[in-house]
Amino acid sequence: MKRLKMMAMALMMGASALAQVPAYLDDSQPLEVRVQDALSRMTTHEKIQLLHAQSKFTSAGVPRLGIRQLNMDDGPHGVREELEWNTWKPARWTNDSVVAFPSLTCLAATWNPELSAVYGNAVSEEFAFRGKDVMLGPGVNMARTPLNGRNFEYMGEDPYLAGHMIVPYIRSAQANGVACCLKHFALNNQEIDRFAVNVNVDERTLHEIYLPAFKAAVQEGGVWTVMPSYPLWNGIHCCQNDSLLNGILKRDWGFDGATISDWGGTTDTWQAATGGLDIEMGTFTDGKVKEAEFGYDDYYLADKFEKLIDEGKIPMSVLDDKATRVLRTIFRTSMNRQKVIGSLCSEAHYDACLRIGEEGIVLLKNAEDMLPLDFNRYERILVVGENAVRSLTKGGGSSELKTLHDWSPLESLQKRFGAKIDYAQGYSSGRAMYDKVDPVDPALSRQLKAEALEKARQADLILFIGGMNKNCRQDCENSDRENYHLSFGQDELIQELAAIQKNIIVCTFGGNAFATPWIDEVKGFVHAWYLGSMAGEALVRVLDGTVNPSGKLPVTFARRLEDYPFMEYGAEAYPGVNKQVYYKEGIFMGYRHFDTRKVKPQFPFGYGLSYTTFEYGKSRLSSKTLSDGKIVLSVDITNTGNRAGKETVQLYIGQRKPSEVRPVKELKAFEKVELQPGETRTVEFSIDRSMLSFFSAKSHDWVVEPGRFDAYVCASSADVRGQADFRVE
Ligand code: BGC
Repeated sequence: MKRLKMMAMALMMGASALAQVPAYLDDSQPLEVRVQDALSRMTTHEKIQLLHAQSKFTSAGVPRLGIRQLNMDDGPHGVREELEWNTWKPARWTNDSVVAFPSLTCLAATWNPELSAVYGNAVSEEFAFRGKDVMLGPGVNMARTPLNGRNFEYMGEDPYLAGHMIVPYIRSAQANGVACCLKHFALNNQEIDRFAVNVNVDERTLHEIYLPAFKAAVQEGGVWTVMPSYPLWNGIHCCQNDSLLNGILKRDWGFDGATISDWGGTTDTWQAATGGLDIEMGTFTDGKVKEAEFGYDDYYLADKFEKLIDEGKIPMSVLDDKATRVLRTIFRTSMNRQKVIGSLCSEAHYDACLRIGEEGIVLLKNAEDMLPLDFNRYERILVVGENAVRSLTKGGGSSELKTLHDWSPLESLQKRFGAKIDYAQGYSSGRAMYDKVDPVDPALSRQLKAEALEKARQADLILFIGGMNKNCRQDCENSDRENYHLSFGQDELIQELAAIQKNIIVCTFGGNAFATPWIDEVKGFVHAWYLGSMAGEALVRVLDGTVNPSGKLPVTFARRLEDYPFMEYGAEAYPGVNKQVYYKEGIFMGYRHFDTRKVKPQFPFGYGLSYTTFEYGKSRLSSKTLSDGKIVLSVDITNTGNRAGKETVQLYIGQRKPSEVRPVKELKAFEKVELQPGETRTVEFSIDRSMLSFFSAKSHDWVVEPGRFDAYVCASSADVRGQADFRVE
């Protein structure tokens, strides 16, 4: 009897507990109601716990209240392998192999926002399946110098291209309940002295060149988390920079999510607390305490911050704001019941990887229409170069991936053409290492070269497959390249091979522009960035014509390093002197410089060939004057060749007589169209005032001046196919 009574009571209690689901656990409640309800139930200490790491890649939730932690991981090209809870050592799990997706520079080179959405969806499904809530990426720092070791993780040199391409990535990733963590905010444009360099950049350049892609990601992409960067701006580390985080990001742009410090980017409790940092990750020991003894409560936003709150030196409202932002992130991700389960290494993910890779590959030279290759015409095809076999998903720093399988170019070629394919390594670069360069034995280099030259004499076609890799001082975090050339003797090797066999095509991987002193001696040149797991398949499908290339450069390939604008100003402009770097070239970065100053690049921004040809009709404007609305520019594009292909039509705009100096023209819109042979389509661009403004150094704001403007319809920044001018009232 007694037992029955107890059971009845328990049932009643259960029912009443059900009836009273706290608001923060009730999905039907608005997000802000849930967040405030959760906050109202938390102690000061519990709020503090939300604000710093509890392991290398997680931050705590509130276990007592059933509020989950945040599981984070790199980013941005796939999910990094599991590391030990408290160290940087691999955890050696056996279920964490993933698909490596193409590098973000490759995505930018597709100029196809639909593929950005495909990318964001696929990569976030892998994050979800691995139990991750926050993907550390994507990054939209600008490629100011081709020497920057991390450009491969970013989206090129133009703020509009990067911003426009990153928005669909973020939206589709977050629609799956996985937060993107936009990095590295801001000015992380070199790896040399990345922890200590103070960036001096004028206000106009900051707003016109280095911030717009971040702004688009926040305001149009609605990104949920942002990673402030290592360097300093105005003498303060970006991770705790009040003007940058509280001012620009949160107040001016209305960012409502959480900032997550770059790992080890926090250096001071007061600055971090008051400077807009919400979650502190990866902090290094303070030098007094050994790594092993340094605990998470020693972090700047842990006990030290709690003490300042308890003493009333920093108001509770500051803590509440941070906790609110972290709770929002938790409810959007780890406690989001709509979050997808995801999948790992699915056919759809390999397919996405392949499609993005194929469209990002850029055909830069095709003499005598030698490409696409008719493999039947050749008897003995020699493949030369280390990147034909090397896994380029390894190395590079935090973006390194543990993959289930990578298709190398040699493997993909042999699969199709079997015995016809011979291989010689030609050069060696050593192992992929993050912090040092493997010395390569000169005798080995000589031997590899001699072998390649010997085999070249027997071949009737040479495919050179080289470029950069992700070794230290190639394309790798924490170091920049040492010069603008391909390393390991590749330039000389290509020239010597070309002297033996004139049928030579150069294919390169790499995240940066580089010198091509051999360009006149080779028949074809294809640049492939990093293509991830399906690298070989994507490259071979372009070479054999299964895919018609349609990538265009998101960066300028200068003839010489000296032609880049920062080079005019010596070490102060790059990499800095006494930890001060000055962006002296100002707004004239990338094609804005080459174009305005008439410096001829080797391959201009926006350039890329196809196996077909496109004709541009006359540009027509719906009106010759623009007041408040918009005018429409239309242009007919015709595929005049005999195979289907895609063309990216680029709209640049320039102002005739601005009151402050401006580039002759800047990218303002683009559209990629697919056309069958003989097909014509009309591309339309809407031009409104927002596309005409510049950030005035005088009024400290965006201004549009009345006067004459020119709209340029282009196939690249240096290839104007149509022009129309209009007046702004
Ligand atoms: C990198 C970040 C990365 C973090 C965690 C840092 O060194 O700069 O991009 O997300 O490490 O691995």
